[in-house]
Amino acid sequence: MKERQESAIRSLKMMMVGTVIVPLAIFCFAAWEHYNSISRLADERIARTLDIAVEQAQKIFQSIDVVFSSVGEITHGRTDQSLRLYEAALSERLKAMVSAIPDVYSIWLFDLTGKPIATSLVYPAPAELDNSDRDYFVAQLDKNVGTYIGRVSKPKIGNEIFFSVSRKRYDSSGEFSGVTAVVVSPSAFEHFYERLARNTTASYAMIRSNGEVLARYPIAVRPGIVLPESGSFRQTIAQHPGGGQYTAVSGVDGLERRINVQRLGELPLYITSSLEVSSIKAEWFGWITTQLIFGIPVTCLLLFLEYLALRRTDDFYAEAGRREHAESTLRQSQKMEAVGQLTGGIAHDFNNLLMIIIGNLESLARQFSDTSKLHRKIQNALDGAQRAAQLTHRLLAFSRRQPLDPKPVDANQLISRASDLLVRSLGERVEVETVRSAGLWLTEVDLAELEAAIINLAINARDSMPNGGKVTIETSNAFLDDAYCCEYEGVMPGRYILISVTDEGVGMEADVIEKAFDPFFTTKQPGLGTGLGLSQVYGFVRQSGGHIKIYSEVGIGTTVKMYLPRSYEGPVEGTRPKSKDLLPGNGESILIVEDDAAVRNYLLELLIELKYAAIAADGGEAAIKLLDDPDQKIDLLLTDVVMPGMNGRQVAEIALAKRPHLKVLYMTGYSHNAIVHQGRLDPGVSLVQKPISEQDLAMRVRSMLDAY
Ligand SMILES: Nc1ncnc2c1ncn2[C@@H]1O[C@H](COP(=O)(O)OP(=O)(O)OP(=O)(O)O)[C@@H](O)[C@H]1O
Ligand SMILES: [Mg+2]
Repeated sequence: MKERQESAIRSLKMMMVGTVIVPLAIFCFAAWEHYNSISRLADERIARTLDIAVEQAQKIFQSIDVVFSSVGEITHGRTDQSLRLYEAALSERLKAMVSAIPDVYSIWLFDLTGKPIATSLVYPAPAELDNSDRDYFVAQLDKNVGTYIGRVSKPKIGNEIFFSVSRKRYDSSGEFSGVTAVVVSPSAFEHFYERLARNTTASYAMIRSNGEVLARYPIAVRPGIVLPESGSFRQTIAQHPGGGQYTAVSGVDGLERRINVQRLGELPLYITSSLEVSSIKAEWFGWITTQLIFGIPVTCLLLFLEYLALRRTDDFYAEAGRREHAESTLRQSQKMEAVGQLTGGIAHDFNNLLMIIIGNLESLARQFSDTSKLHRKIQNALDGAQRAAQLTHRLLAFSRRQPLDPKPVDANQLISRASDLLVRSLGERVEVETVRSAGLWLTEVDLAELEAAIINLAINARDSMPNGGKVTIETSNAFLDDAYCCEYEGVMPGRYILISVTDEGVGMEADVIEKAFDPFFTTKQPGLGTGLGLSQVYGFVRQSGGHIKIYSEVGIGTTVKMYLPRSYEGPVEGTRPKSKDLLPGNGESILIVEDDAAVRNYLLELLIELKYAAIAADGGEAAIKLLDDPDQKIDLLLTDVVMPGMNGRQVAEIALAKRPHLKVLYMTGYSHNAIVHQGRLDPGVSLVQKPISEQDLAMRVRSMLDAY
């Protein structure tokens, strides 16, 4: 059952863990996959737009090539002078070319000194202009430069920044005669890039292989932007001169970008196309957020439902456990109650019978001398009857019908007194240790019964240690709380004194513990144990309002704990005086009321023998008749409690109403009756317990009559 419960709870817990882990794992995988696919898409977009940007640049440079060819044809075989003569016509031709190619800003023809011969921009060309210091001019003074693409710079005329593409011009003899420059505005590229990027984080640039940026979008180019040699662009083209791909923080705008770079044909020029990494991530995060918006509430709801199921199952099992425990305690206490009733009834009848047997045997014994054979036999019979009385006493104790006379008791004193007796009776092989707690509270119990209980426990401890060992008797104050008391039927929370008896013996199996308090349950050989020892202890403790518990481990030992209710009164101790001689009467008259004829006769004979003027009645009515007789002297009423018709208490009440000075002594063998409530005597009540020994009766009658 317990295993099934645990496995059900375990499965539910695993389901809860699974509810979190499985969707999380699927989510992580999907997120990873999605990131890859977004990256792939971004790469494709970058590559596609790079192709377009490259195509656009190629077209422009092809147009510039066409310009160079046309200028070459026009100027072929002509000297600078002849060209200057035709400057007006030349300027017109150049202007026509510029207007045919929108991306070209102007065309210039320079002589070998850097002075303009003609330009599409103005006629006549400014004579004072000297461009011999310009990079695109200087570069052509070297040998085979071919087409040279210059850096971005401010013009000497006008404001718009530009870069120039230059090429050598040759005269008729094939000699280098001057430089033709085509001026291009970066904005021609930048406008195109802007359209290409349209509402994305894309960026495009045209960069010279030495890192100089010629055109760029989104941040427009300005003179002097040069990417460092150690930067990712220069490193990438150094390793892959045709172009490549990399992710880096842009040297221009400081943003992290995924960049594709491609060389423009054979020119020392590169076009780059890029996307911001943050935009790729943002798209990914957007996807994650959408998934989570739906996923998290569903998972939480599932988790919550599973948690509820777990709680319910837990509660259900806890409730089932509690019910099972409560049912078993109830069954146990009902069983004890039923057995108690049965044994109590038997014991009651036995008490009456034993009283007759013991009484008559005692009276017989007195008639024969101590040495006679008959006396010995009578004595043997008496011993047997006494043992039977002991058994009956234990049975009554178990059935909790033993009349108790509880008084405040100091258990420490009791234990130190009892330990001598225990040391003697437990034998040499058993060591008795007592641990008495300081400041121990008093308890309110029947002293003789508590003594008997401790002795019973000590004897059990001894019996569990056939090879000897140590018995520890310990006292302490204890508090039983609500939680503890809920587990046990009929235990009230509160302050108790605890007396525990511990041994190092063989211990008890769980099924032995369960039955240990049952009357006649014993594991001892037939004839060696009655099985009533623990029954007495149990009955006494429960009847005294306490609680008893066995803790035992096989092979290690046993502890029996008796919790007895704390008393708030001061200690009253002392034992009744006991004398061996029967205290005689003085002719006082005693009225015996007893329904059992044999008991009645025995009492009558005994009291007459003791020199009392005893008379007897078989019940309440007969007794009242005698009480009504004014000539009938009565000093003491000795009445049984449980009788058919009027009970002892009612008889006594009527008798006291008639004769207020009458003394009353009750007899009973049974605690459930009119003068004993919950096993305790009502205050001011005098009682003798059946079976009554001659000595006891003689002493109690005498002391009652002598009192005043
Ligand atoms: N301290 C103990 N260690 C091991 N077993 C014990 C101990 N006390 C009691 N038992 C077990 O409980 C059973 C019942 O005990 P109980 O005192 O009621 O009867 P008993 O000891 O067998 O007989 P009796 O008390 O008449 O000698 C014992 O037979 C024994 O099996
Ligand atoms: Mg015993």
